[in-house]
Amino acid sequence: MSFLTLSSIQKSFGPVQVVKDFNMSIEKGEFVSFLGPSGCGKTTVLRMIAGFETPSGGAIAIDGKSQMNLRPNQRNIGMVFQAYALFPNMNVAENVAFGLKVAGRPKAEIDARVKEMLGLIKLDHLADRYPYQMSGGQQQRVALARALAPKPQVLLLDEPLSALDAKIRVSLREEIRMIQQQLGITTVFVTHDQEEALSISDRIVVMNAGKADQIGTPAEIYNRPATRFVAGFVGTLNLIEAKVVDPAANRVSIGDQGVTLREPLGTVKAGDMVSLALRPEAGSIAPDAKGDTALSGAVVSTNFLGSVIRTRMKVGDSIISFDMFNSPGLVPPAVGETVTLRFTAGDLLVISD
Ligand SMILES: Nc1ncnc2c1ncn2[C@@H]1O[C@H](COP(=O)(O)OP(=O)(O)O)[C@@H](O)[C@H]1O
Ligand SMILES: [Mg+2]
Repeated sequence: MSFLTLSSIQKSFGPVQVVKDFNMSIEKGEFVSFLGPSGCGKTTVLRMIAGFETPSGGAIAIDGKSQMNLRPNQRNIGMVFQAYALFPNMNVAENVAFGLKVAGRPKAEIDARVKEMLGLIKLDHLADRYPYQMSGGQQQRVALARALAPKPQVLLLDEPLSALDAKIRVSLREEIRMIQQQLGITTVFVTHDQEEALSISDRIVVMNAGKADQIGTPAEIYNRPATRFVAGFVGTLNLIEAKVVDPAANRVSIGDQGVTLREPLGTVKAGDMVSLALRPEAGSIAPDAKGDTALSGAVVSTNFLGSVIRTRMKVGDSIISFDMFNSPGLVPPAVGETVTLRFTAGDLLVISD
């Protein structure tokens, strides 16, 4: 049973439709990320769920109850924003207590809940601090506690980590995920960072220009991108133009080299061009590899990236990048050298547009 249901949500600002027929069913306790480039409509969808924007069409329900005629304060939703939106004139405990106070809860209950929340984010010792006396990461943990204190049905997080430095970002995203699982709270997390979405989500919605291009688990999204956009946005992918040689045998050529794919090519005929995707981590160098799951080409460049060495080689009109795990004895191929990359038939994916 879907807990948070978005049915054909649309939003136009004047003549511009920024959210187009957005559908999503989120299960109770699920952690779903909206992933997409800046301007694709992520915040707008979140604001419609929270009630800050009215959809131009469609419906939103939580636990079977329509939210369409409820004002933001009548919805049971917690929200955390990118900028630390703490009340500067309130200390940590007062910030966390805010929602409960507004709701008119008794003082004993508020005190107990604030204590519980500060324990959850491990900031019990900073209850008397003011926002200006804390780091960005600590302020975002307080913002999270403040959003969770009134026990919302749904937690919405709008790029909560983007203003933090890389290290804090990684540790805080793990902490958010742990707390979310501990509480079992249904969560929508907005980000433009694919690694962030891949690492902590149950499912990801890849958004492109106001619509969902693909919805799936991190592994599904990464391993089997449904569209060219998803393929390009999630991960570092080689997009290779290939010519169909024999559609019945899944046979194509890249430059003058023939390869055989595992997947059917769809409705194409010999001579048509198709787009293929190959992950840089899929293949490995194999000097003796031949035949239909290997490609040879001249090395154009090598880049040392720390844990991997990324090599680019030219095959026909395409440049193909591939990665080798770094190890102390590894000598990367030289520029100009011809190398052969071996992969499996299933590594080459057919990308539809
Ligand atoms: N209140 C508004 N009035 C007009 N246009 C808006 C408004 N809010 C957002 N937009 C436009 O809608 C599009 C989507 O914005 P937004 O949802 O903030 O994207 P994202 O969060 O994915 O970066 C953008 O082109 C933005 O300029
Ligand atoms: Mg946004």
